[in-house]
Amino acid sequence: MTTLFINIKELLQVREQTPHFLAGDEMKTLPVLKNAFLRIEDDLIKDYGVMEDLTDSTADVTIDAEGKTILPTWIDSHTHIVYAGNREQEFVDRINGLSYEEIFNRGGGILNSAKKLQQISESDLFEESKKRLEEVMLQGTGALEIKSGYGLTLEAELKMLRVIKKLKETYPVAIKSTFLGAHAFPAEYKDNHEAYIDLICNEMIPAVAQENLADYIDAFLETGYFSVAETEKIMQTGLQYGLRSKIHVNQFTAIGGIKSCVENNALSVDHLEVVTDEDIEVLKNSKTMPVALPTCSYFISIPYTPARKMLNAGLPLALASDFNPGTTPSGNMNFVVATACIKMKMTPEEAINAATINAAYAMDLLESYGSVTKGKKASFIITQPLSSYYQIPYAFGSNLIESVYLNGKKWS
Ligand code: NIG
Ligand code: FE
Repeated sequence: MTTLFINIKELLQVREQTPHFLAGDEMKTLPVLKNAFLRIEDDLIKDYGVMEDLTDSTADVTIDAEGKTILPTWIDSHTHIVYAGNREQEFVDRINGLSYEEIFNRGGGILNSAKKLQQISESDLFEESKKRLEEVMLQGTGALEIKSGYGLTLEAELKMLRVIKKLKETYPVAIKSTFLGAHAFPAEYKDNHEAYIDLICNEMIPAVAQENLADYIDAFLETGYFSVAETEKIMQTGLQYGLRSKIHVNQFTAIGGIKSCVENNALSVDHLEVVTDEDIEVLKNSKTMPVALPTCSYFISIPYTPARKMLNAGLPLALASDFNPGTTPSGNMNFVVATACIKMKMTPEEAINAATINAAYAMDLLESYGSVTKGKKASFIITQPLSSYYQIPYAFGSNLIESVYLNGKKWS
Protein backbone atom coordinates (compact mmCIF):
# COMPACT_ATOMS: atom_id res chain seq x y z
CA MET A 1 0.00 0.00 0.00
CA THR A 2 1.25 3.45 -0.87
CA THR A 3 -0.49 6.51 0.38
CA LEU A 4 0.28 10.09 -0.42
CA PHE A 5 -0.97 13.00 1.59
CA ILE A 6 -0.84 16.28 -0.23
CA ASN A 7 -1.40 19.90 0.60
CA ILE A 8 -0.68 19.67 4.28
CA LYS A 9 -0.79 23.19 5.67
CA GLU A 10 1.74 22.38 8.39
CA LEU A 11 3.72 19.19 8.90
CA LEU A 12 5.09 19.25 12.45
CA GLN A 13 8.13 17.65 14.02
CA VAL A 14 9.96 16.95 10.75
CA ARG A 15 13.47 15.72 11.51
CA GLU A 16 15.90 14.46 8.91
CA GLN A 17 17.55 12.12 11.33
CA THR A 18 16.31 10.38 14.39
CA PRO A 19 17.44 12.87 17.00
CA HIS A 20 18.75 12.12 20.41
CA PHE A 21 16.45 13.52 23.08
CA LEU A 22 16.19 17.29 23.29
CA ALA A 23 17.42 19.25 26.30
CA GLY A 24 17.18 22.85 27.50
CA ASP A 25 17.08 25.37 24.64
CA GLU A 26 16.88 22.62 22.00
CA MET A 27 13.32 22.07 23.14
CA LYS A 28 12.34 25.58 22.06
CA THR A 29 12.39 24.63 18.38
CA LEU A 30 9.72 22.60 16.65
CA PRO A 31 10.64 22.01 13.00
CA VAL A 32 7.67 22.66 10.69
CA LEU A 33 7.24 22.28 6.92
CA LYS A 34 4.53 24.49 5.44
CA ASN A 35 2.56 23.44 2.31
CA ALA A 36 4.00 20.00 2.56
CA PHE A 37 3.44 16.47 1.35
CA LEU A 38 3.96 13.18 3.12
CA ARG A 39 4.36 9.81 1.48
CA ILE A 40 3.95 6.60 3.42
CA GLU A 41 4.65 3.10 2.28
CA ASP A 42 3.06 0.26 4.19
CA ASP A 43 3.62 1.09 7.84
CA LEU A 44 6.52 3.50 7.37
CA ILE A 45 7.19 7.12 6.47
CA LYS A 46 8.81 7.03 3.04
CA ASP A 47 9.22 10.66 2.13
CA TYR A 48 8.14 14.21 2.89
CA GLY A 49 8.88 17.65 1.56
CA VAL A 50 7.37 20.91 0.33
CA MET A 51 4.80 20.74 -2.46
CA GLU A 52 7.05 22.68 -4.87
CA ASP A 53 9.52 19.80 -4.73
CA LEU A 54 6.95 17.08 -5.33
CA THR A 55 7.88 15.42 -8.63
CA ASP A 56 6.03 12.13 -8.48
CA SER A 57 2.51 12.33 -7.16
CA THR A 58 1.34 8.85 -8.14
CA ALA A 59 0.02 6.75 -5.32
CA ASP A 60 -2.57 4.07 -4.66
CA VAL A 61 -4.43 6.37 -2.36
CA THR A 62 -4.16 10.12 -2.22
CA ILE A 63 -5.63 12.15 0.60
CA ASP A 64 -5.99 15.86 0.45
CA ALA A 65 -5.15 17.46 3.80
CA GLU A 66 -5.57 21.03 2.63
CA GLY A 67 -5.59 23.49 5.51
CA LYS A 68 -4.83 20.76 8.01
CA THR A 69 -1.90 20.00 10.28
CA ILE A 70 -0.17 16.64 10.63
CA LEU A 71 1.93 15.73 13.64
CA PRO A 72 3.33 12.44 14.90
CA THR A 73 1.07 10.62 17.35
CA TRP A 74 1.52 11.35 21.04
CA ILE A 75 3.81 9.03 22.96
CA ASP A 76 2.60 8.35 26.50
CA SER A 77 5.54 6.92 28.43
CA HIS A 78 3.78 6.48 31.80
CA THR A 79 0.31 4.95 32.26
CA HIS A 80 -1.56 2.53 34.49
CA ILE A 81 -4.51 1.89 32.13
CA VAL A 82 -4.94 -1.74 33.23
CA TYR A 83 -7.06 -1.51 36.37
CA ALA A 84 -10.38 -2.67 37.76
CA GLY A 85 -13.33 -0.48 38.74
CA ASN A 86 -12.78 3.15 39.66
CA ARG A 87 -12.06 5.43 42.62
CA GLU A 88 -14.91 7.88 42.19
CA GLN A 89 -15.73 7.81 45.91
CA GLU A 90 -12.17 8.94 46.78
CA PHE A 91 -12.56 11.76 44.26
CA VAL A 92 -15.59 12.99 46.21
CA ASP A 93 -13.80 12.40 49.53
CA ARG A 94 -11.01 14.71 48.34
CA ILE A 95 -13.54 17.35 47.33
CA ASN A 96 -14.88 17.10 50.87
CA GLY A 97 -11.47 17.77 52.35
CA LEU A 98 -9.48 14.55 52.67
CA SER A 99 -5.98 14.47 51.18
CA TYR A 100 -4.51 11.72 48.97
CA GLU A 101 -2.33 10.71 51.93
CA GLU A 102 -5.24 10.58 54.38
CA ILE A 103 -7.22 8.39 51.98
CA PHE A 104 -4.26 6.01 51.63
CA ASN A 105 -3.78 5.85 55.39
CA ARG A 106 -7.43 4.76 55.74
CA GLY A 107 -6.73 1.76 53.50
CA GLY A 108 -7.87 3.48 50.30
CA GLY A 109 -5.76 4.58 47.37
CA ILE A 110 -3.57 1.95 45.71
CA LEU A 111 -4.77 -0.74 48.17
CA ASN A 112 -8.38 0.01 47.22
CA SER A 113 -7.54 -0.61 43.55
CA ALA A 114 -5.55 -3.74 44.51
CA LYS A 115 -8.59 -5.26 46.23
CA LYS A 116 -10.67 -4.79 43.09
CA LEU A 117 -7.89 -6.06 40.83
CA GLN A 118 -7.38 -9.22 42.85
CA GLN A 119 -11.06 -10.08 42.47
CA ILE A 120 -11.57 -9.49 38.75
CA SER A 121 -11.03 -12.20 36.11
CA GLU A 122 -8.31 -11.78 33.51
CA SER A 123 -10.84 -11.59 30.69
CA ASP A 124 -12.97 -8.94 32.45
CA LEU A 125 -9.81 -6.96 33.20
CA PHE A 126 -8.92 -7.08 29.51
CA GLU A 127 -12.41 -5.86 28.55
CA GLU A 128 -12.26 -2.93 31.00
CA SER A 129 -8.74 -1.97 30.02
CA LYS A 130 -9.22 -2.16 26.27
CA LYS A 131 -11.91 0.53 26.46
CA ARG A 132 -9.35 2.92 27.92
CA LEU A 133 -6.77 1.95 25.34
CA GLU A 134 -9.24 2.51 22.51
CA GLU A 135 -10.15 5.88 24.03
CA VAL A 136 -6.56 7.13 24.10
CA MET A 137 -5.93 5.84 20.58
CA LEU A 138 -8.84 8.01 19.40
CA GLN A 139 -7.17 10.87 21.26
CA GLY A 140 -4.02 10.40 19.19
CA THR A 141 -1.76 8.21 21.32
CA GLY A 142 0.32 5.91 19.10
CA ALA A 143 2.61 4.33 21.69
CA LEU A 144 2.33 3.91 25.42
CA GLU A 145 3.89 2.31 28.45
CA ILE A 146 1.56 0.40 30.79
CA LYS A 147 2.42 -0.60 34.36
CA SER A 148 1.26 -3.39 36.63
CA GLY A 149 1.18 -2.48 40.32
CA TYR A 150 -2.44 -2.92 41.36
CA GLY A 151 -2.01 -6.67 41.90
CA LEU A 152 0.51 -6.73 44.76
CA THR A 153 0.43 -10.54 44.85
CA LEU A 154 2.37 -12.71 42.44
CA GLU A 155 -0.79 -14.04 40.87
CA ALA A 156 -2.52 -10.68 40.47
CA GLU A 157 0.61 -8.95 39.14
CA LEU A 158 0.97 -11.67 36.52
CA LYS A 159 -2.71 -11.25 35.62
CA MET A 160 -2.14 -7.54 34.95
CA LEU A 161 1.00 -8.18 32.91
CA ARG A 162 -0.76 -10.84 30.82
CA VAL A 163 -3.52 -8.36 30.06
CA ILE A 164 -0.89 -5.82 28.96
CA LYS A 165 0.62 -8.50 26.71
CA LYS A 166 -2.77 -9.23 25.16
CA LEU A 167 -3.37 -5.53 24.52
CA LYS A 168 0.03 -5.44 22.84
CA GLU A 169 -0.92 -8.33 20.58
CA THR A 170 -4.36 -6.93 19.75
CA TYR A 171 -3.83 -3.26 18.86
CA PRO A 172 -1.65 -1.40 16.34
CA VAL A 173 0.06 0.71 18.99
CA ALA A 174 3.51 0.18 20.44
CA ILE A 175 3.21 -0.91 24.07
CA LYS A 176 5.98 -1.27 26.64
CA SER A 177 5.22 -3.13 29.83
CA THR A 178 6.51 -2.25 33.29
CA PHE A 179 6.44 -4.42 36.42
CA LEU A 180 5.43 -2.28 39.42
CA GLY A 181 5.13 -4.81 42.23
CA ALA A 182 6.60 -2.12 44.52
CA HIS A 183 3.65 0.24 44.23
CA ALA A 184 2.54 -0.01 47.89
CA PHE A 185 3.08 -2.42 50.75
CA PRO A 186 0.10 -4.81 51.03
CA ALA A 187 -1.59 -4.60 54.47
CA GLU A 188 -0.15 -7.94 55.57
CA TYR A 189 3.40 -6.61 55.03
CA LYS A 190 2.78 -3.27 56.72
CA ASP A 191 5.13 -4.14 59.56
CA ASN A 192 7.43 -6.41 57.60
CA HIS A 193 8.70 -4.50 54.60
CA GLU A 194 11.67 -6.77 54.21
CA ALA A 195 9.47 -9.78 53.53
CA TYR A 196 7.62 -7.97 50.74
CA ILE A 197 10.87 -6.78 49.15
CA ASP A 198 12.07 -10.39 49.31
CA LEU A 199 8.86 -11.57 47.66
CA ILE A 200 9.34 -9.04 44.87
CA CYS A 201 13.02 -9.83 44.33
CA ASN A 202 13.03 -13.58 44.88
CA GLU A 203 9.67 -14.59 43.43
CA MET A 204 7.90 -11.91 41.46
CA ILE A 205 10.79 -10.61 39.32
CA PRO A 206 12.00 -14.12 38.35
CA ALA A 207 8.43 -15.17 37.45
CA VAL A 208 7.83 -12.02 35.40
CA ALA A 209 11.14 -12.49 33.59
CA GLN A 210 10.47 -16.19 33.03
CA GLU A 211 7.28 -15.36 31.10
CA ASN A 212 8.96 -12.38 29.46
CA LEU A 213 6.15 -10.13 30.62
CA ALA A 214 8.00 -6.88 31.30
CA ASP A 215 10.34 -4.44 29.58
CA TYR A 216 11.01 -2.30 32.67
CA ILE A 217 10.75 -2.24 36.43
CA ASP A 218 9.23 0.50 38.58
CA ALA A 219 8.78 1.36 42.28
CA PHE A 220 7.00 4.16 44.14
CA LEU A 221 10.02 5.74 45.85
CA GLU A 222 8.35 8.01 48.36
CA THR A 223 8.02 8.71 52.08
CA GLY A 224 5.50 6.17 53.38
CA TYR A 225 5.96 3.89 50.38
CA PHE A 226 9.38 2.53 49.25
CA SER A 227 12.64 3.88 50.68
CA VAL A 228 15.77 4.66 48.69
CA ALA A 229 17.43 1.45 49.94
CA GLU A 230 14.39 -0.70 49.16
CA THR A 231 14.07 0.79 45.69
CA GLU A 232 17.79 0.27 45.05
CA LYS A 233 17.42 -3.41 45.82
CA ILE A 234 14.52 -3.62 43.35
CA MET A 235 16.35 -1.67 40.63
CA GLN A 236 19.43 -3.83 41.00
CA THR A 237 17.50 -7.10 40.98
CA GLY A 238 15.63 -5.83 37.92
CA LEU A 239 18.91 -5.15 36.13
CA GLN A 240 20.03 -8.72 36.80
CA TYR A 241 16.98 -9.82 34.82
CA GLY A 242 17.50 -7.27 32.04
CA LEU A 243 14.88 -4.81 33.31
CA ARG A 244 15.92 -1.17 33.37
CA SER A 245 14.03 1.03 35.76
CA LYS A 246 11.48 3.80 35.33
CA ILE A 247 10.77 5.09 38.83
CA HIS A 248 7.94 7.05 40.50
CA VAL A 249 9.92 9.54 42.57
CA ASN A 250 9.71 13.01 44.20
CA GLN A 251 5.93 13.18 43.97
CA PHE A 252 5.53 14.51 47.51
CA THR A 253 9.01 14.59 49.06
CA ALA A 254 12.67 14.73 47.99
CA ILE A 255 14.58 12.04 49.88
CA GLY A 256 17.55 11.46 47.60
CA GLY A 257 15.69 9.17 45.25
CA ILE A 258 16.64 10.86 41.99
CA LYS A 259 20.36 10.49 42.69
CA SER A 260 19.91 6.83 43.42
CA CYS A 261 17.88 6.32 40.20
CA VAL A 262 20.55 8.04 38.08
CA GLU A 263 23.27 5.97 39.74
CA ASN A 264 21.31 2.84 38.90
CA ASN A 265 20.95 3.84 35.24
CA ALA A 266 17.20 4.45 35.33
CA LEU A 267 15.71 5.19 31.93
CA SER A 268 13.35 7.73 33.46
CA VAL A 269 12.36 9.39 36.73
CA ASP A 270 8.70 10.27 36.78
CA HIS A 271 6.47 12.73 38.73
CA LEU A 272 9.05 15.23 40.12
CA GLU A 273 6.53 17.61 41.62
CA VAL A 274 9.25 18.38 44.19
CA VAL A 275 12.71 19.00 42.72
CA THR A 276 15.78 20.27 44.59
CA ASP A 277 18.83 22.04 43.15
CA GLU A 278 20.82 18.91 43.88
CA ASP A 279 18.35 16.80 41.88
CA ILE A 280 18.86 19.10 38.90
CA GLU A 281 22.64 18.78 39.15
CA VAL A 282 22.41 15.00 39.32
CA LEU A 283 20.19 14.81 36.24
CA LYS A 284 22.50 17.00 34.15
CA ASN A 285 24.43 14.98 31.56
CA SER A 286 22.76 11.77 32.69
CA LYS A 287 20.94 9.27 30.47
CA THR A 288 17.87 9.44 32.71
CA MET A 289 14.85 11.30 31.31
CA PRO A 290 12.83 13.40 33.76
CA VAL A 291 9.10 12.91 33.10
CA ALA A 292 6.42 15.32 34.32
CA LEU A 293 2.78 14.28 34.80
CA PRO A 294 0.88 17.58 34.88
CA THR A 295 -2.63 16.15 34.81
CA CYS A 296 -1.86 14.26 38.04
CA SER A 297 -1.02 17.60 39.68
CA TYR A 298 -4.22 19.01 38.19
CA PHE A 299 -6.44 16.20 39.43
CA ILE A 300 -5.19 15.84 43.01
CA SER A 301 -4.22 19.49 43.47
CA ILE A 302 -0.51 19.14 44.19
CA PRO A 303 2.36 21.31 42.89
CA TYR A 304 3.38 21.06 39.24
CA THR A 305 6.83 19.87 38.21
CA PRO A 306 9.04 23.00 38.06
CA ALA A 307 9.55 22.67 34.31
CA ARG A 308 10.93 26.18 33.74
CA LYS A 309 13.59 25.75 36.38
CA MET A 310 14.60 22.40 34.90
CA LEU A 311 14.59 23.52 31.25
CA ASN A 312 16.42 26.73 32.06
CA ALA A 313 19.08 24.61 33.74
CA GLY A 314 19.52 22.73 30.46
CA LEU A 315 17.68 19.53 31.35
CA PRO A 316 15.48 17.54 28.98
CA LEU A 317 11.85 16.90 29.97
CA ALA A 318 9.16 14.50 28.77
CA LEU A 319 5.43 14.67 29.43
CA ALA A 320 3.10 11.73 30.10
CA SER A 321 -0.47 11.25 31.28
CA ASP A 322 -0.10 8.86 34.27
CA PHE A 323 -3.61 7.57 33.35
CA ASN A 324 -4.72 5.68 36.50
CA PRO A 325 -7.85 5.40 38.66
CA GLY A 326 -6.51 7.32 41.66
CA THR A 327 -4.59 10.38 40.59
CA THR A 328 -5.30 10.86 36.86
CA PRO A 329 -8.36 9.20 35.36
CA SER A 330 -7.57 10.52 31.88
CA GLY A 331 -5.05 9.70 29.18
CA ASN A 332 -5.80 12.68 26.98
CA MET A 333 -2.33 13.75 25.84
CA ASN A 334 -3.65 16.91 24.18
CA PHE A 335 -4.85 17.99 27.61
CA VAL A 336 -1.48 17.00 29.13
CA VAL A 337 0.28 19.24 26.59
CA ALA A 338 -2.18 22.08 27.22
CA THR A 339 -1.79 21.77 31.00
CA ALA A 340 2.01 21.85 30.66
CA CYS A 341 1.70 25.12 28.74
CA ILE A 342 -0.94 26.68 30.95
CA LYS A 343 0.32 25.59 34.38
CA MET A 344 4.01 24.86 33.90
CA LYS A 345 4.76 27.69 31.46
CA MET A 346 6.18 25.42 28.82
CA THR A 347 5.90 26.87 25.33
CA PRO A 348 3.83 24.92 22.77
CA GLU A 349 7.09 23.89 21.08
CA GLU A 350 8.60 22.59 24.32
CA ALA A 351 5.44 20.76 25.29
CA ILE A 352 5.01 19.08 21.88
CA ASN A 353 8.68 18.03 21.88
CA ALA A 354 8.23 16.68 25.40
CA ALA A 355 5.19 14.60 24.40
CA THR A 356 6.73 13.18 21.22
CA ILE A 357 10.52 12.93 20.88
CA ASN A 358 11.50 13.00 24.54
CA ALA A 359 8.60 10.74 25.44
CA ALA A 360 9.77 8.23 22.81
CA TYR A 361 13.23 8.27 24.46
CA ALA A 362 11.60 7.57 27.83
CA MET A 363 10.33 4.25 26.48
CA ASP A 364 13.19 3.33 24.13
CA LEU A 365 11.19 4.03 20.98
CA LEU A 366 13.17 6.87 19.49
CA GLU A 367 14.20 4.75 16.50
CA SER A 368 10.63 4.30 15.33
CA TYR A 369 8.41 6.98 16.91
CA GLY A 370 8.33 10.59 18.02
CA SER A 371 9.04 12.49 14.81
CA VAL A 372 8.27 12.66 11.08
CA THR A 373 11.47 11.00 9.90
CA LYS A 374 12.03 8.69 6.94
CA GLY A 375 11.91 5.08 8.08
CA LYS A 376 9.94 5.76 11.25
CA LYS A 377 6.44 4.39 11.80
CA ALA A 378 3.68 6.14 9.88
CA SER A 379 1.70 6.91 13.04
CA PHE A 380 0.32 10.43 12.99
CA ILE A 381 -2.58 12.72 13.74
CA ILE A 382 -4.39 14.77 11.12
CA THR A 383 -6.03 17.75 12.76
CA GLN A 384 -8.99 19.81 11.70
CA PRO A 385 -8.00 23.05 9.95
CA LEU A 386 -6.09 25.07 12.56
CA SER A 387 -5.25 28.77 12.66
CA SER A 388 -1.78 27.66 13.85
CA TYR A 389 -0.41 24.78 15.91
CA TYR A 390 -0.68 27.01 18.96
CA GLN A 391 -4.35 26.09 18.86
CA ILE A 392 -3.44 22.57 20.09
CA PRO A 393 -2.67 23.71 23.66
CA TYR A 394 -4.72 26.94 23.45
CA ALA A 395 -8.09 25.33 22.73
CA PHE A 396 -7.51 22.96 25.64
CA GLY A 397 -11.03 21.58 25.78
CA SER A 398 -11.59 21.03 22.06
CA ASN A 399 -11.09 17.85 20.15
CA LEU A 400 -9.05 19.06 17.20
CA ILE A 401 -8.32 15.61 15.82
CA GLU A 402 -9.86 14.73 12.48
CA SER A 403 -8.22 11.34 12.05
CA VAL A 404 -5.50 9.12 13.46
CA TYR A 405 -3.22 6.86 11.40
CA LEU A 406 -1.40 4.05 13.14
CA ASN A 407 1.38 2.11 11.45
CA GLY A 408 0.26 3.37 8.03
CA LYS A 409 -3.42 2.53 8.42
CA LYS A 410 -6.34 4.78 9.21
CA TRP A 411 -7.46 3.97 12.74
CA SER A 412 -10.16 6.59 13.12
O1 NIG B 1 1.57 7.69 39.46
N1 NIG B 1 2.09 7.78 42.69
C1 NIG B 1 1.98 6.58 42.55
N2 NIG B 1 1.21 5.91 41.72
C2 NIG B 1 0.20 6.42 40.85
C3 NIG B 1 -1.14 6.53 41.44
C4 NIG B 1 -1.52 5.46 42.30
C5 NIG B 1 -2.95 5.48 42.71
O2 NIG B 1 -3.38 6.33 43.50
O3 NIG B 1 -3.67 4.58 42.23
C6 NIG B 1 0.66 7.74 40.24
O4 NIG B 1 0.12 8.80 40.54
FE1 FE C 1 2.12 6.64 37.85
